[in-house]
Amino acid sequence: MAEPEEYRPGLEGVIAAETAISYLDVAHEEIVVRGYNLIDLAEHVSYLDVVHLLWYGRLPSAAESARWAAEIAAARLDTERIVPLIDQLGPGLHMMDWLRTAVSVLGTWDPDVGQEDAAHVWAQGRRLVGSLPAVLAQGYRRRQLLPVIPSDPARPYAANFLHMMTGREPSAAEARAFDQLLIAYSEHEMPNSTFAARVISSTLADLYGALTGAVASLKGRLHGGANEAVMRMLLEVGDPARMRAYLEDRLARKERIMGFGHRVYMRQPDPRAMLMKQVLAELAGPAGRQDLYELCVAGEEAMYALKGLYPNLDYYAAPVYYLLGVPIELYTPIFFVARVAGLVAHVQEQYAHNRLFRPRVRYTGPRGLRVGP
Ligand code: COA
Repeated sequence: MAEPEEYRPGLEGVIAAETAISYLDVAHEEIVVRGYNLIDLAEHVSYLDVVHLLWYGRLPSAAESARWAAEIAAARLDTERIVPLIDQLGPGLHMMDWLRTAVSVLGTWDPDVGQEDAAHVWAQGRRLVGSLPAVLAQGYRRRQLLPVIPSDPARPYAANFLHMMTGREPSAAEARAFDQLLIAYSEHEMPNSTFAARVISSTLADLYGALTGAVASLKGRLHGGANEAVMRMLLEVGDPARMRAYLEDRLARKERIMGFGHRVYMRQPDPRAMLMKQVLAELAGPAGRQDLYELCVAGEEAMYALKGLYPNLDYYAAPVYYLLGVPIELYTPIFFVARVAGLVAHVQEQYAHNRLFRPRVRYTGPRGLRVGP
């Protein structure tokens, strides 16, 4: 094999896979998901419909959609046995560490682990989508010594998930907003976590192993971890009139502002951020929190004026979570739970057209050293 010559740090601009799942069409400002525009999907169908689309390549009919939701609800693994394991974990636990541990443990309960054919892997995917809301919400509440809310298969997926976390009955508008947020996070081509899952599955490791790696990747603050930092910043600033001076001060100290910039959308808006901005506007009025909306807009305008940077999804998702009453520690874990939809599709695609990932390096270390005389 010829020695490769080109080195692209961070694999920037490198095409690492062929995929029929999704594509960031930057020129047309569109996130293409199995042929549809992701924003269009968020406006018209449910998160579980998008899962169906991502996995099987087509949207379900109305009758199929209801059957599919029931199938996902019934696929939940024995979460009552898994959730108490959180008591064994150390004091520095972040809820992403819980998810990383829990995904790994769920694999030991899945009857199909070790079976790599597509039908068995889809069944594993259904169990993950069916189980993770309860694992996350119940684990969190148990850890906080709050009453654990049982999963209610009769509720729609997003409403059930939200209710298990907050203990509060969501309004129809809140449940819909959360469902749209899950869709916004469901799939996004080849971010670091999806690449991590594909790299792991290219060894024919199982789905749970691939997703355990993906959740570890997503915890990083240059990736999923940004949404929690955004909310802490918004709470710290508090007043729209203070926003610009706050950002100027941090930028002068060469600090990064979480929720801005994106490897692919560096010079244009992230369509998902604009969707969440709209959702935030709709929630803020009834919640009496127009000030929070204005604070976010002030930040968006100031960052554009100061750095020419646009907000990414995490910037506007954070205040949406906040108005829905979701605890900040759960923002990034929810991103992962939603992204399982896309990750399972990518792992399946990797299995179906597999080529082991094994790149080369440009060696910069010493040579010719000798041991002994
Ligand atoms: N705050 C301040 N400056 C930023 C910035 C941010 N959030 N994002 C990018 N920049 C600046 C960099 O300082 C750099 O400026 P310079 O050329 O003057 O040095 C320039 O923009 C390019 O940044 P770079 O880090 O090379 O781009 P990247 O493609 O590696 O970065 C991110 C992409 C997402 C890692 C980066 O935008 C970032 O750190 N954002 C904050 C974290 C975040 O919100 N992540 C969620 C992504 S969905």
